[in-house]
Amino acid sequence: MNFASDNAGPMHPKVLEALIAANDGTQMPYGNDTIMQDARAHLRDVFEAPEAGVYMVSTGTAANALALATYAKPWDAIFCHRTAHIEEDECGAPEFFTNGAKLTLVDGADGKMSPEALRDSILATGDKGVHGVQRGPISLTQATELGTVYTLNELKALTDIAKEFGLATHLDGARFANAQVALGCSAADMTWKAGIDVVSFGGTKNGCMMTEAVVIFDPEKAWEFELRRKRGAHLLSKHRYLSTQLQAYLADDLWLTLAEQSNTACAKLARGLRQIEGAKLLHEPDVNMIFAELPRGAHKRAMQAGAKYYLSPFDTPLDGPEDDLIACRLVCDWSKKDEDIDQLLALLR
Ligand SMILES: Cc1ncc(COP(=O)(O)O)c(C=O)c1O
Repeated sequence: MNFASDNAGPMHPKVLEALIAANDGTQMPYGNDTIMQDARAHLRDVFEAPEAGVYMVSTGTAANALALATYAKPWDAIFCHRTAHIEEDECGAPEFFTNGAKLTLVDGADGKMSPEALRDSILATGDKGVHGVQRGPISLTQATELGTVYTLNELKALTDIAKEFGLATHLDGARFANAQVALGCSAADMTWKAGIDVVSFGGTKNGCMMTEAVVIFDPEKAWEFELRRKRGAHLLSKHRYLSTQLQAYLADDLWLTLAEQSNTACAKLARGLRQIEGAKLLHEPDVNMIFAELPRGAHKRAMQAGAKYYLSPFDTPLDGPEDDLIACRLVCDWSKKDEDIDQLLALLR
């Protein structure tokens, strides 16, 4: 009964099998393996971007920080939502890898930047000449950290503003597949066709062991990324073990199947939560993550029976008035089964 994170889930057996198969014999190191050639070609097909640079790293933080470093100068602002992972959960890695670019927080309901707030934030930046930071890239998260999804029009409205000011847009796609399935669109629709320049394409949360791809649509930028990845100590020598995860992840649309499973599981959980007296969903869950308030007594019952998930704030005590409403985050990874959800709901009820 672990609903703490999609990272709490296992890797998919097909990814594990691919790792074992890739272990046979020798392969050239540092991304020159034949598996990478195949995986790169497949991902370019998925994105309908035959020229795109495709690079693998083993964490989402590395993908985000290195991608942003490729697009931001040290004296730039990077515009991101107040709840962005790059702001809240990366220990300053984007600032570190950009040599000090300043994250500039933009508001908007449900974890999504509002176009008005983005425009105001851009206008308020870079108007002090040499004394202030300059306008730099925008970073959007899709699906957002609050389990919501930007529609294609919402994405386009934000990238249009970025373009108006000559700024690039990065997409943190740690849950890219979940968002794509939720929108029922193509990877190209959700990225370059919507004005996105560079994507952190997540695999780890959705069935891989540890693999994220950075997809750069402007081939001119690719070499710089490659240098930054090496200099930033994220070029894996035994790279084939990253490549093979991506290859297995993309084969037969496994990535979309798994995202469909976790989104569907989460929708079931949301339906059950809505029927619990006193429970309240804080955002409309578009993908595999729910933020909800529940009475402390419900949390206590579930957690004492072994359920794992995060309360917000993390250290909220379970002892105290049973009726107090306490917020929590519940995440369904791809392996969640109906009975796991029924079990949690029964306890919360
Ligand atoms: C929105 C988002 N971006 C990026 C990441 C990647 O983080 P990590 O460096 O832990 O792989 C996560 C993981 O929690 C995330 O939720």
